[in-house]
Amino acid sequence: MLVENRMRAQGEDCHPDLRAALEHLLVSGGKRVRPTLCLLVGEMLGGSPSQLVTLGAAVELLHTATLVHDDLIDGALLRRGAETLNARWSSAATVLTGDFLFARAAKLAAEIDHLPVMRLFAETLAVIVNGELTQLFSARGVINRENYFQRIYAKTASLFEMTTRASSMVSTENANLIEPMRKFGNELGMAFQIVDDLLDFTGEQSAVGKPLGSDLLQGLVTLPAIYYAETNPDHPDVRSLAAGGWGDHERMERLVQAIRSSDAVHLAMREAEQRIERAITHLAQFEPCEERAALENLARYVVDRKI
Ligand code: IPE
Ligand code: IPE
Ligand code: MG
Ligand code: MG
Repeated sequence: MLVENRMRAQGEDCHPDLRAALEHLLVSGGKRVRPTLCLLVGEMLGGSPSQLVTLGAAVELLHTATLVHDDLIDGALLRRGAETLNARWSSAATVLTGDFLFARAAKLAAEIDHLPVMRLFAETLAVIVNGELTQLFSARGVINRENYFQRIYAKTASLFEMTTRASSMVSTENANLIEPMRKFGNELGMAFQIVDDLLDFTGEQSAVGKPLGSDLLQGLVTLPAIYYAETNPDHPDVRSLAAGGWGDHERMERLVQAIRSSDAVHLAMREAEQRIERAITHLAQFEPCEERAALENLARYVVDRKI
């Protein structure tokens, strides 16, 4: 709630259309996983609540800004069950709204008054943008696990890792506490994106609230598709991917169906579950407490989620 207010306050002194866009983004919500993570980690380590609220709002605004730009890049019309900005507005207005969110996220990050956190914030944004560009130019049709794990680190796990690390950094100077929290965020973020990629195959559109079955159509070969391709390397639909076959809608719909009913889905889920187990082992170094239990629940929720 405090994080919500902090985010809403960022729209107070701006153009009415921009304010309306920000309101639209805030009302449609989202799971708020990253600020929750930020608050739980920081509270567990005895951080200052007001600093943690600022950091949580900064992280969620950064996340929202990347989504605004991502939906424009992907041409996605639906997000969090509501119309995206690019569905209603021109590209110019959408880009500028994203920029505004980035600017306000950076301003909040600066208010924490902690230079290493500010540096980490800027570096993480660079990793995300570099990842999106790499995906745009050189990841289409690529069937390779290593490449996949690098991609999901850049686009998702880097921000989770930053969240737990920055939240620890503002709460303690003890590197022996910061490092396991960083690793926890990393594993959690990797699992989160693997599940996101699974939901693209197995999710319920009305629950997920964004277009599904779309990764392959964009040439993005995610973990379920990689596992399927590894067991069926000679399948014509699989072979077509390397040569741009992802542009063929009918072919890709058929491939999505095939993957959906294959073992690849379970294998990918197992990979996500293993990462969650590893994440939870990093929590074991902390004294049992309410926040630790909540972090463990959050980690388990990541693999159980339907939205
Ligand atoms: C969506 O993130 C983009 C990914 C990195 C998968 P979330 O699934 O956390 O999106 P919201 O904020 O809950 O809508
Ligand atoms: C979103 O990437 C990740 C970032 C915002 C960097 P995707 O395009 O894979 O995610 P969704 O499916 O639109 O949420
Ligand atoms: Mg994208
Ligand atoms: Mg997208």
